[in-house]
Amino acid sequence: MNTRIFSHISLIAGIGAPGRPLRGKQLAQLQSISNGYLIVEGGEISEVGRMEDLKYGGEQVPESTIVLPAWCDSHTHLVFAESREAEFVQKIRGASYAEIAAAGGGILNSAKKIAACSEDRLFELAWQRLMAIAKNGTGAVEIKSGYGLSVEGELKMLRVIKRLKEKSRMHIRATFLGAHAYPIEYRENHEGYISEIIDKMLPVIAAEGLADYVDAFCETGFFSPEEMLRICEAAGQYGLRPKLHVNQLNSIGGIEAGMQAGAVSLDHLETLTDKDIELLGHFDGLSTLLPGAAFFLRMAMPPARKLIHSNAAIALATDFNPGSCPSGNMQTMLSLACIQMKMLPEEAINAATINGAFAMEVAASSGSISRGKKANLIFTKPVTSLAYLPYAFGDNHIDRVMIDGDFI
Ligand code: NIG
Ligand code: FE
Repeated sequence: MNTRIFSHISLIAGIGAPGRPLRGKQLAQLQSISNGYLIVEGGEISEVGRMEDLKYGGEQVPESTIVLPAWCDSHTHLVFAESREAEFVQKIRGASYAEIAAAGGGILNSAKKIAACSEDRLFELAWQRLMAIAKNGTGAVEIKSGYGLSVEGELKMLRVIKRLKEKSRMHIRATFLGAHAYPIEYRENHEGYISEIIDKMLPVIAAEGLADYVDAFCETGFFSPEEMLRICEAAGQYGLRPKLHVNQLNSIGGIEAGMQAGAVSLDHLETLTDKDIELLGHFDGLSTLLPGAAFFLRMAMPPARKLIHSNAAIALATDFNPGSCPSGNMQTMLSLACIQMKMLPEEAINAATINGAFAMEVAASSGSISRGKKANLIFTKPVTSLAYLPYAFGDNHIDRVMIDGDFI
């Protein structure tokens, strides 16, 4: 087995292996070792320690290198056929998201593009995006369907995600988001589309093992809490747990419904009442914040500080998608979290690593630098301190990324 010993690491941050997501004040406790070493055997981390305890020689890393766990991006829509910068310009000129959606833009625009794209081409495009996010330090990622909105389109997307899982050495989780929007032909016939999801899509998805989770966009004009619950219940029969889009634009009961459905995570959370914040403080799962989407849509940021104060377990993710966050760069999310949501650098890093891993149920093997976990690691360029990473926003601070024991 290939063994690599890395020595004289200025800081190894994110060690330890908590058994539960970090909540409230725990989020600021980023366990670290100054002047440490790290041993990787095959694809696994086999030892982490202080330089004075290193018994062998090793590869000395450049001075002022920080080693971090690779990012765990627990919410993306990175399978899509085309970018949507034309809508971006329409919005700059004054059009609203609702106006664009009503004119067949938005999610429905992406659905048209998916229908016209072959599975092979879609795979190729998604593969390029996956490689790009890996270079930016992502080692585990959740990817949703949801731009198919037909039996054929949703299955095509999920089969692409399955192929990504087979080819990549990253940790990939697949989520079925058939309930992303009502296709035009079902605008006045919600029952009709829900039965497509429940009777036609879910059985094939289960039979082919195409998804780990189910999702729904619970929002005014999209899926109601009741509709979302029915879909979660049907998916639950096949063993799919929910990870849900709630409270992006309105607070309509998505949080209560999501908690009732036993969600692994509740995501977005830009629009929260005091009661919602209190509920999330008691929610066992993750409250996943997507500051890139709030930034891109010029919305108020999710109230991270209030959520931390209420003892919620916060994860940070990109929401990488062509409509509301065309970036899959977790370094950018880290900066947005600190600058716009006033999260401490330590909190943001924990939320982007170990808590992200919990939001995909991969924390036993990803999300921290601990013996026996997958060697998915970030080696930074020389930096003055940990806080420099989110502080010097817009720059790439990553020198090398290791996935499954190999530098990419
Ligand atoms: O998570 N909010 C719903 N879905 C995506 C954006 C969809 C799109 O515009 O393509 C999101 O932000
Ligand atoms: Fe999303």
